[in-house]
Amino acid sequence: MKIVVIQGPNLNMLGVREQQIYGAMKLEQIHAQMKDFATQSGIEIEFFQSNFEGELVDKIQECYGEASGIIINAAAYTHTSIAIRDAISAVSLPTIEVHISNIYRREDFRKQNMIAPVCTSSIVGFGPYGYHLAMVGMIQIFNEIRAMQEMQKQAQNSSEN
Ligand code: DQA
Repeated sequence: MKIVVIQGPNLNMLGVREQQIYGAMKLEQIHAQMKDFATQSGIEIEFFQSNFEGELVDKIQECYGEASGIIINAAAYTHTSIAIRDAISAVSLPTIEVHISNIYRREDFRKQNMIAPVCTSSIVGFGPYGYHLAMVGMIQIFNEIRAMQEMQKQAQNSSEN
């Protein structure tokens, strides 16, 4: 099982940008913690950050056939990008969106969310800990998919015998 973590614009500035909103942790530190947890859980993990919308779309498309799930913080593109929304929809993988801040308690323009309706789930307002919660949630989704596949296999076997 492999999770791809996709980070949008300005998240490479975490630890520097608006610490009162996003906290003091750097993106590398968040990723190091996620990597440790993935290793403990026997999950493969890959990280990608870009400030460019098209590169984020390309990365989501690359996940098709490669990844079992996506954790994405599309950052400012969350509020504007139909292209990222369509890419998430196209690959049809379990996808959890994370926002470090609670976007629903901030400026009105952040309340528009193009991504959430095509995601499995959204985690907002937990600070960097939201990425850990997303991993716990993704592992739960993987377990449910595995259990469902097992049940289908058993049903198929018993109908053949
Ligand atoms: C963000 C919230 C967005 O509105 C903002 O543009 C970001 C970060 C968050 O993680 O809280 O860059 O996605």
